[in-house]
Amino acid sequence: GNKVSIGLLGLGVVGTGVIKIIKDHQEKLVHQLGSDVQVKSALVRSLDKERDVSLEGTLLTTNPDDILNDPEIDIIVEVMGGIDQTREYILKAFSTKKHVVSANKDLVALHGPELQEAARKNKCDFYYEASVAGGIPILRGITEGLSSDRITKIMGIVNGTTNYILTKMDKEGLSYDVALKQAQELGFAEADPTADVEGLDAARKMAILARLAFSMDVDLEDVKVKGISNISLDDLKYANKLGYTMKLIGNADFKDDKIEVDVQPTMLAKNHPLASVNDEFNAVYVYGDAVGETMFYGPGAGSLPTATAITSDVVSVIKNMLLGVTGSQHLDPHFDKQLKTADK
Ligand code: HSE
Repeated sequence: GNKVSIGLLGLGVVGTGVIKIIKDHQEKLVHQLGSDVQVKSALVRSLDKERDVSLEGTLLTTNPDDILNDPEIDIIVEVMGGIDQTREYILKAFSTKKHVVSANKDLVALHGPELQEAARKNKCDFYYEASVAGGIPILRGITEGLSSDRITKIMGIVNGTTNYILTKMDKEGLSYDVALKQAQELGFAEADPTADVEGLDAARKMAILARLAFSMDVDLEDVKVKGISNISLDDLKYANKLGYTMKLIGNADFKDDKIEVDVQPTMLAKNHPLASVNDEFNAVYVYGDAVGETMFYGPGAGSLPTATAITSDVVSVIKNMLLGVTGSQHLDPHFDKQLKTADK
């Protein structure tokens, strides 16, 4: 039968998750697509590192051209992270007509519009569901599920590390430092957790969400950011006493043709739907004129949840390939033409 070949850029926690899901769920994939899906090769830094997955059928290489120039590879899955070099690999993939699925929030937040334009010019698909809120299908939720509505507000708990820290401080009285250390041990904090605790990671994800929800470009520099590094146990106790819960909230508002996006520690009334989102979980509250209040909840990180979002993007790409309608993105391919810059 048919076979679709994937090239992985990166084989860390998320990359191994992608291989696992493609193997373990092969039957479901074949059932939906009528073709086998195979990870043909993976770009790695070290060939002899031990890996927590069976690599049968997958070649490892340290040379990106082995993947980017392989005519048998249809889809590139980028899970290596990083910005400048990764951007070049992705642009090269588009120039050789390969579809790209990326989990890279930093790259998409900074260079999303440029990459979307390159994909469009080459009639390639470009999806990045895993870049925001891990396993929660929020990008599809806003761009497909709510495509007919006018979204006017998004509030998100989109960083698991800070939500974990605030939860442990609030509910168990742990100190900030101990809670941060636990988050690092559990594996969802960034290697350098500064971007987590200072709110930058959440700001990047909110920029992506706002761009897709409002079909307007959102410059990361215009997102006001305040993190949680100076929140004390006393602050949380005080909030509690007044009937509030402190959360790191990303806010994106669309009003009078203007977009405002910010990230800051926020006192939420305890009956707010986001107030009960605890530990490392993420949630995105979306308000649409017609639908009213909705909330999407789930794991914001982790190998298999993130790999699920990536592999579902791969399924979308393959469906588009089968239908002969590639050139798709989370927003329609004319995004760049509709893109207006918000008045400031
Ligand atoms: N460091 C991120 C977090 C990982 O804590 O949410 C997922 O993007």
